[in-house]
Parts: sequence; structure tokens; C-alpha cells
Amino acid sequence: MNHAFEIRAATRRIGTHTVRTPFHPLGKDVLVKREDLQVSGSFKIRGAVNTYLTAARERRERALVTVSTGNTGRALCAIGRWFSVPVHVFVLEDCDAGKLDDLRRLGATVHVAGRSFLAAGVMAREFADEHRMSYCSSGADWDFLHGLGSIVLELHDQHPDLDTLFVPVGGGGLAAAVGTAYAALPEAGKPRIIGVQAANSRPIHDFFHFGRSTAEASPTMADCLAGEPEADAIILDVARSVLADVVLVSEPEIELATKHLASYGITVEPGAAAGYAAHLAAIGGDGVTGKTGVLLTGMA
Ligand SMILES: Cc1ncc(COP(=O)(O)O)c(C=O)c1O
Repeated sequence: MNHAFEIRAATRRIGTHTVRTPFHPLGKDVLVKREDLQVSGSFKIRGAVNTYLTAARERRERALVTVSTGNTGRALCAIGRWFSVPVHVFVLEDCDAGKLDDLRRLGATVHVAGRSFLAAGVMAREFADEHRMSYCSSGADWDFLHGLGSIVLELHDQHPDLDTLFVPVGGGGLAAAVGTAYAALPEAGKPRIIGVQAANSRPIHDFFHFGRSTAEASPTMADCLAGEPEADAIILDVARSVLADVVLVSEPEIELATKHLASYGITVEPGAAAGYAAHLAAIGGDGVTGKTGVLLTGMA
């Protein structure tokens, strides 16, 4: 697959539905890419619109289905409104009540589907197939990842000389997409891409370092990063080949970073601050030098 071609095509395709988000200095040490200011409140809209616009017409006009901890669902709701298409979002039992209300208010039919993200994903896919609807996967679908790759064309245009970029990791789709785009686009620089996962929910970290999951997940305030990668996710192998490292941040580090950003007037949800948390924790440490960027991935 020609990723460079697909990412450029996706970027053109989604352009009228997304915005070019600012990438600006914060303090003197770091630049932040403000995907919290993206349409629908997170980077997910980039992948979701590309998936929608490339899906089979007959299915996508019937309804859109996804499994989500909130932000993919919100992105689909925006698309549902634009194109007058019903949206079904499968969520976990412990989904934040505010996010559930939000999804319903935005027009989604919400299906509460047990406690396992993996099992909920399987249910959502079966539901979509049974009713011949369009399923949107944020971790197992190149159309989604190529949409996310549009971030890198912007990053490169805004600051071509980045040395390091911190990217929050949940299922790993975003980090895999960003890493793939930097590797594929000849004009883009080659910063070290560092994935950042919450220590309480660390399957991608463990897969990256040990080839398998080693720890039971426990609750994290970074709930948008919780959960396992989808069963047939393409990102596990991709992440290994394109990321320089995957690191963990603790709950206090995530909390501190979220508050730190708030003190600059930037209100993001805790998971969206994970990359910034790693940056704060790494200051003075070794390994991270030069011009550093952080993806702030979603609003509070
Ligand atoms: C705000 C936010 N940041 C980061 C992520 C992680 O993205 P991924 O699951 O592609 O790793 C998510 C996932 O839902 C998210 O909502």
C-alpha cells in the first residue's frame, strides 16, 4: 500500500470537514498541537470522516456504528448530523456518565455492551453486519489511520524540524498513524515518535516491549486511553516498526499535566494530556533532546 499517496488523498478528502489545528509553543520547551480545538473536540474526526467518505454508499447511508470510549462516538455523531445518517455507539458499562449523556444528546443510539472493549467491538461489528450498516474502526482500518495521517502533513508544514513528538496511546491507532505518516511522507522530517500510555492500562506498551500483555488493567483517570486494541488491529505490528518507544505515565503525572495545561487556559481531558505528562516527566532526563512536540488530543 502506498501510504504517502493514501494520506495525501485522505487529507484532501476530509479538508472541508476538519480544521487545521494550531501548533504553538507552550512555555519555552515544547510545542503543542491543539487537536482539542478540532471539529467534534478531538483528532478522531479526521479518521472518521475519511472512513465515512470511503465506505460503501449503501451501508453508510443506512447507519454508522462504532465502539468508543467517547471521542470516536462524538466524531460519528457530527458526521451523522452532516449527512443525516443514524449513529450507533457501543460503550462499556463503566463509561463516564457525562460522556454517555453527551453521546445521547448528540443524537447517538447508545448500546451498553459489557465490560470488555474487545467484546464490545465484536458486538458492534456483528450488529453493523447484521443490519448492513457501516462500521467505523479506529484501530483496525487503514482508511481511518490515513485520515489521522493528515495531522503529520500539518505538523510538518507548521514545524518541519521536530526532533521528538509525544503521542497519547489508547488502542494505538493514532500513534501508528502518525508514525506511519512520518515514515512514508518523503517531505516530512523524521522525529522520534514516542507513544505514551497510562501505567494503569498498558497493553500497547507491553506489546511493544514484551510482545504480550503483562498486567491487568486498573481504572485510570485517562479513561479515553483505557481498553485493549481490537482483535484484528493492524496497529500492533505497525506500532512496533514506526515508534521509537512507548512509555508509561502514572496517575499523578497525568493529573499534574492536566492541571499544568489548565493553568495556561488549555482544558483537555486527562488522557489527552498524557503526552504532555511524559514531556514534563522527561525534563532533565536523558533521551529527549532538541525541539519537542506534544499532541493534545481532545478537549475536556
Ligand atoms: C482524547 C484521546 N486521546 C488519545 C486517544 C488514543 O487514541 P488511540 O486509541 O488511537 O491510541 C483517544 C482514543 O480514544 C482519545 O479519545
